[in-house]
Amino acid sequence: APETALEQHRLNYHFSPKTSWMNDPNGMVYHNGTYHLFFQHNPDSNVWGPMHWGHATSTDLVHWEEQSIGLYPDSLGTIFSGSAVVDKDNTAGFGENALVAIFTHHNHAIEDARTGLHQYQSIAYSTDEGTTWTKYEGNPVLPNPGIWDFRDPKVMWHEATGRWIMTLATKQTVTFYSSPNLKVWTQLSEFGDGVGAHGGVWECPDLISFDHDGKEVWVLLVSINPGGPNGGSATQYFVGDFDGTTFTPYETEAKWLDYGRDNYAGVTWSNIDDRRVFIGWMNNWDYANVVPTGNWRGAATIARDLDVTSINGKWYVTSKPVPELENITELIHELQEQTADETSIKRVAGEVPSTYRLDFMAKADKDFTVKLRNDANEWVDIGYDAVAKQFFIDRRQSGNTSFKDNFASRDVAPRIGTDGSIRMSVFVDVASLELFADDGLTVMTEVFFPTTVYNDIILQGGDGQAFGDIKISRIASIWK
Ligand code: FRU
Repeated sequence: APETALEQHRLNYHFSPKTSWMNDPNGMVYHNGTYHLFFQHNPDSNVWGPMHWGHATSTDLVHWEEQSIGLYPDSLGTIFSGSAVVDKDNTAGFGENALVAIFTHHNHAIEDARTGLHQYQSIAYSTDEGTTWTKYEGNPVLPNPGIWDFRDPKVMWHEATGRWIMTLATKQTVTFYSSPNLKVWTQLSEFGDGVGAHGGVWECPDLISFDHDGKEVWVLLVSINPGGPNGGSATQYFVGDFDGTTFTPYETEAKWLDYGRDNYAGVTWSNIDDRRVFIGWMNNWDYANVVPTGNWRGAATIARDLDVTSINGKWYVTSKPVPELENITELIHELQEQTADETSIKRVAGEVPSTYRLDFMAKADKDFTVKLRNDANEWVDIGYDAVAKQFFIDRRQSGNTSFKDNFASRDVAPRIGTDGSIRMSVFVDVASLELFADDGLTVMTEVFFPTTVYNDIILQGGDGQAFGDIKISRIASIWK
């Protein structure tokens, strides 16, 4: 698609609003064959402002259609982040299978009074597949007890105890609540003191369970701003047990769902039985308000399937691109062995499409770099440092980096996988890159703003060597 100034850096196969600002994904719920994606939205401007819930739907997690706005600010406040559930048994009395949204009302007038009582939880329901919503007249359902940061409710049905569980961000902890009916909430426990990262406020938590070889394993995602591994906002996670009241982590150190700088506030869909499908906001509060896009700003990551695995006695969450992406993927280039005189693959040779995925293998005991470069000699380097055992993304020469002094960066991530060869899948859209290493054990998501698309893929080894012993298994175009 030709770029106009208003459309500048528009992504192809990622969701972004037609116009104006978006941040966190919200209210993700699957119902009657439709994936609903609500999102923090300021429809009147392309910077953060009075929050609404924008709305998009998809039947396959890759084609998104923007719908009319789901939730508007009201006399209780603007609509901050939250979740949505299907109330199958009509526990709330809004109707069987009603969609119920649980969100934070943010009251700017009370905030100005500095009492710390400006965030509280409210609900709304929809009986027409999320098109129109009615706010509950008893809002708020969870008033503020005097905690400055008190927000982002993620609600799930807990089968074993037969009640709803709310996971709420409370300053630098997470507090769990329970409810029989989504209207009356009782505090259960608090988690977070002395564990994980505390470089900033905790936001947008999500509590999810996995069946790991017959064992129930729980994961708590917690976004944090600032304090991410490469600066600014990022999402940490804990793996552990949840008994319906208390979350107990297996390990207390912070682990990161994504080490790149541009995956924040992500959570998973509710009401999908056997999958934990995640989407994040592909941005960083360090510079989100000034990235040089047109009259829109902010996008979602590709959807990812989360899972848990243990390696040498430690637990990790893996992220994998959803298989539905294959439906919009077309093979362009298949090579079993890459040779030293085939180290540069150019679009002029008809091979590199403008939005693509690249799958390759490299040796874990050797440095390598994959350089994505355009005709303006702007580039992003993706690579591996075998001595430090670190992956990196270097976007310092990626194009326009001048809009914010902390944007240009070389960012690193530890290798967690232990195989002798490293498998990588890299998803490139016009202005974004998502790197999945070792089947999703290490993930890095980053955005960039080049003059034109990167149409040249150059393979390099360590010490200035031209060739990094890489085996490319495929280059495939992805186009919605
Ligand atoms: C996270 C966040 C949430 C809040 C929302 C406001 O990015 O700060 O904690 O609900 O954004 O837009």
